[in-house]
Amino acid sequence: MIIYFAKKFLLLQTFLLFVFSQFGTSQNVSDGFLTISKHIRDGQVLVSKGENFALGFFSPGVSTNRYVGIWYNKAPENPVVWVANRDNPINDSSGILSIDAHGNLVLRVKDQNQSIWSTNITSKSTNKSTFAQLLDSGNLQLALDKTSEVLWQSFDYPTDTNLPNMELGLDRSTGLSRILTSSKSKDDPGTGNCSYVLNTNSSSPELYLYKSNILLWRSGHWNGIGWSGLPQLSKSNLLYNYSLVNNQTETTISWTEILPGTFQRSVVNELGYIERLLSRDTREGGKKWISLGKMPDKLCDNYGKCGTFGKCQLHNDTRFECTCLPGFQPKSPSEWLSRNASGGCVRKRGQESICKSGDGFVTVENVKLPDSSVAQLDEKLRFEECEQKCRQNCSCTAYGGVATEEQVGCLRWHGDLIDTSVLDGGGQNLYVRVDALELGHSNGFFANKRRLAIMIVALLVTPLLIFLSAYWLIRRKRKARERQLKFFIDATTSSTTFQDSQKLDEGRRKPDLPIFDISTILTATDNFSPTKRLGQGGFGPVYKGQLANGQEIAVKALSRSSRQGTEEFKNEVTLIAKLQHRNLVRLFGCCIHKEEKMLIYEYMPNKSLDFFIFDEIGRQLLDWSKRFEIISGIARGVLYLHQDSRLKIIHRDLKTSNVLLDAAMNPKISDFGLARMFGDDQIEANTKRVVGTYGYMAPEYAMEGLYSTKSDVFSYGVLTLEIISGKKNNHYHVASPWLNLIGHAWDLWMEGKALDIVDSSLGQAYPAHEVSRCIQIGLLCVQEQAMDRPTMIEIVFMLGNETPLPAPKKPAFINRRNISNGQDSSSSTGALGSINDVTMSALEAR
Ligand SMILES: *[C@@H]1O[C@H](CO)[C@@H](O)[C@H](O)[C@H]1NC(C)=O
Ligand SMILES: *[C@@H]1O[C@H](CO)[C@@H](O)[C@H](O)[C@H]1NC(C)=O
Ligand SMILES: *[C@@H]1O[C@H](CO)[C@@H](O)[C@H](O)[C@H]1NC(C)=O
Ligand SMILES: *[C@@H]1O[C@H](CO)[C@@H](O)[C@H](O)[C@H]1NC(C)=O
Ligand SMILES: *[C@@H]1O[C@H](CO)[C@@H](O)[C@H](O)[C@H]1NC(C)=O
Ligand SMILES: *[C@@H]1O[C@H](CO)[C@@H](O)[C@H](O)[C@H]1NC(C)=O
Ligand SMILES: *[C@@H]1O[C@H](CO)[C@@H](O)[C@H](O)[C@H]1NC(C)=O
Ligand SMILES: *[C@@H]1O[C@H](CO)[C@@H](O)[C@H](O)[C@H]1NC(C)=O
Ligand SMILES: *[C@@H]1O[C@H](CO)[C@@H](O)[C@H](O)[C@H]1NC(C)=O
Ligand SMILES: *[C@@H]1O[C@H](CO)[C@@H](O)[C@H](O)[C@H]1NC(C)=O
Ligand SMILES: *[C@@H]1O[C@H](CO)[C@@H](O)[C@H](O)[C@H]1NC(C)=O
Ligand SMILES: *[C@@H]1O[C@H](CO)[C@@H](O)[C@H](O)[C@H]1NC(C)=O
Repeated sequence: MIIYFAKKFLLLQTFLLFVFSQFGTSQNVSDGFLTISKHIRDGQVLVSKGENFALGFFSPGVSTNRYVGIWYNKAPENPVVWVANRDNPINDSSGILSIDAHGNLVLRVKDQNQSIWSTNITSKSTNKSTFAQLLDSGNLQLALDKTSEVLWQSFDYPTDTNLPNMELGLDRSTGLSRILTSSKSKDDPGTGNCSYVLNTNSSSPELYLYKSNILLWRSGHWNGIGWSGLPQLSKSNLLYNYSLVNNQTETTISWTEILPGTFQRSVVNELGYIERLLSRDTREGGKKWISLGKMPDKLCDNYGKCGTFGKCQLHNDTRFECTCLPGFQPKSPSEWLSRNASGGCVRKRGQESICKSGDGFVTVENVKLPDSSVAQLDEKLRFEECEQKCRQNCSCTAYGGVATEEQVGCLRWHGDLIDTSVLDGGGQNLYVRVDALELGHSNGFFANKRRLAIMIVALLVTPLLIFLSAYWLIRRKRKARERQLKFFIDATTSSTTFQDSQKLDEGRRKPDLPIFDISTILTATDNFSPTKRLGQGGFGPVYKGQLANGQEIAVKALSRSSRQGTEEFKNEVTLIAKLQHRNLVRLFGCCIHKEEKMLIYEYMPNKSLDFFIFDEIGRQLLDWSKRFEIISGIARGVLYLHQDSRLKIIHRDLKTSNVLLDAAMNPKISDFGLARMFGDDQIEANTKRVVGTYGYMAPEYAMEGLYSTKSDVFSYGVLTLEIISGKKNNHYHVASPWLNLIGHAWDLWMEGKALDIVDSSLGQAYPAHEVSRCIQIGLLCVQEQAMDRPTMIEIVFMLGNETPLPAPKKPAFINRRNISNGQDSSSSTGALGSINDVTMSALEAR
């Protein structure tokens, strides 16, 4: 009986299969696999396991030709990311994509043996048993049945789109060179004229964009974390994580997505630009593609706009200016005058004039360094030795550092300097070689002054050094407080000094304290490599690191102004390391080395809130529901600090840059307890030293140094208003009649137009009632009188429940523009304290 039904079922299935295949609309393949017995024909699609991508037949634009391609299955507009037969379309719907007897993936037309496209990996004499799989990354792989060894993958043959985890560049072991090539047009995905290539010939690889062999744009050299010509991307590392591999076997670049739940791609457009696109969630539930920028974009982005040895400076969208680098003059002054700079500049007194005694270097500041394909890269060379190296070779025309910090790494140019342009914010210094005369002329005053300064410093410092050495020798055991030379420079140059002292440390260590060895930290951060530097916090630099067990950490060096002794500090760290809450960044422990104190935190990949809400692109990624979650999360974190934890901590420096975001964009408060570690652990007290950031400080704290949990509430209110509006409290447009965001919000609130403050990037897509409630809570928090402000527990309750709210009273600091600007008011009360406090007080004008 069962067998009978099974047979019937099989028959039915066969019949259905027959019917479907006859009419060409048979079922889609949704596990992502193609095998020798499972093919797809026009009309069917192969969907990857997680349904991110689909493979199938399509016709672009108005074309009726059929192509096999891979497209986003769930993103809007389903953009195509890869095309198999881009130059060989099928003119009807008879195409079949299958695996042939030799193991190749082939595209052919029904009833024809000739293939239209093939992976070509196996020949007739080497039959292999293979399968193809479309992965959720958008990669189509052909692999051996037995071993799953990948024989071919679409990522190795990209068309016009670069996806995360796709490598561009050269694999020297196979000779495979992966470049992007534009389409011919919207209607024709055939190989077009623009290409995007990683230059793998020079010691310092760069990305180049060509149009029919004319170089349009270059990315700038690799600075360790990103491309130097794109500082806005590498600085924040907000959206992408690039990695460059440059060794004997390969020179490749790839990137990974950092933000979850988004899709990202870069596309080479046939019009001659590369565009990066990101799909983000919209409140309506769908997604939408937004452009994260095109390159070349501005006039000075165009390669060699001002010719050889010229420098391009942009004034506005339509106006730029070419100047010659120091020591150079226009090759053809008449052309130059007629605003044609393409001829470039030549050395004023000929090439022979340099490389003689008295020549030197003139600094050109804040530029995108010239084309590095003619440069020599010494990644390991200390920057100080760079100039010397350049002097030694007469063909060296300029040098510069690899990263902005100029600590390690040296680039030296031999020959022409092409495509130097001014980069606003994030440029580097170029040191151009000039002859003695030029050095006297253009830089003489400064050069002489510098020499004089060096001489004076040398005269002063030498006896001091002798004295210090003597002192050190005599009182070796005593802490060498005088050694104010920068620790991190020591760390990068001589790690041996740490080995010795480590032995000393080991004896004193208590096993239960979360104290890390300096050697562990040095290994984790590659000896505080500049490439691992995440930024400069109010208390000192922050480095990224990875422990031997794979745990990623952030190492925060504290400035020396701590008044605590080492033991007190250790006890404090131990207490704070025990605090755990989902909205607080974990403090793993500390590391103490001589006078240096470092805190070891959990690493947060998504940076801090200010990178998002004050950023043109970043703010688009935070819709209202996300913002509300962040507002609520911060409130819960602060509440925990204030009353749920055993320590009762007042943060005292709550601000957007101290709110970090984890991979799922949950807010995590950082730097709590720092004030305690610096020795001010009274609660509700008066302090001479004001820790905090102007714009977030409660009036009683800023003016009188009085702090309590209510001063954190004030900062929280400012934060809330900033998250809602996407504007900095402190950085208000000059043209506006309001001094700050609080004043603006208050005025709008009084006029009954509170919602006008809402970030325009949210559009109309937010629940007015909820937003208005949050504005009201924000205003309640920034009220002038501390006692009027709600407590944190009340705030958490108000955020979670629809209870009626009290009407806010007039906030603090809403004076009109002409009166004072706060900074005066705090310094006039002497709250700034002594020199020692400057690093701590961090009254940064943000
Ligand atoms: C197969 O997928 C395509 C595109 O997603 C869709 O239009 C079609 O309806 C699907 N066919 C079946 C049988 O599910
Ligand atoms: C499609 O192309 C084939 C040859 O490649 C040709 O024989 C056929 O006539 C074409 N069909 C149409 C409809 O153009
Ligand atoms: C395809 O190949 C088979 C066997 O190799 C042959 O019999 C058939 O004639 C070929 N068809 C065409 C259209 O060339
Ligand atoms: C495969 O090889 C054939 C002949 O050698 C060639 O015509 C065709 O372009 C190749 N296809 C691909 C996708 O490389
Ligand atoms: C490969 O497969 C083809 C078709 O099945 C067959 O004709 C040929 O003999 C095979 N070659 C080898 C080396 O097995
Ligand atoms: C590509 O360049 C060639 C010659 O430079 C030109 O003839 C052709 O029209 C260009 N193609 C496209 C799609 O722009
Ligand atoms: C690299 O060198 C090879 C051979 O000299 C040349 O064909 C290629 O175009 C060069 N690549 C770039 C990006 O300059
Ligand atoms: C080059 O780097 C790649 C990726 O990190 C690695 O797999 C390969 O072994 C390296 N080759 C050499 C010669 O170091
Ligand atoms: C650029 O500046 C020039 C001169 O300052 C001015 O004439 C021109 O209108 C400006 N263009 C734009 C787009 O602002
Ligand atoms: C600029 O000068 C170059 C020669 O240096 C010449 O070839 C080019 O045509 C000139 N361009 C314009 C727009 O005059
Ligand atoms: C100077 O540098 C060039 C380019 O790297 C090199 O070819 C030349 O040999 C060097 N000359 C000396 C004297 O080192
Ligand atoms: C960046 O990429 C590297 C290697 O591809 C990876 O180890 C690291 O975890 C990534 N970082 C982030 C923040 O995604």
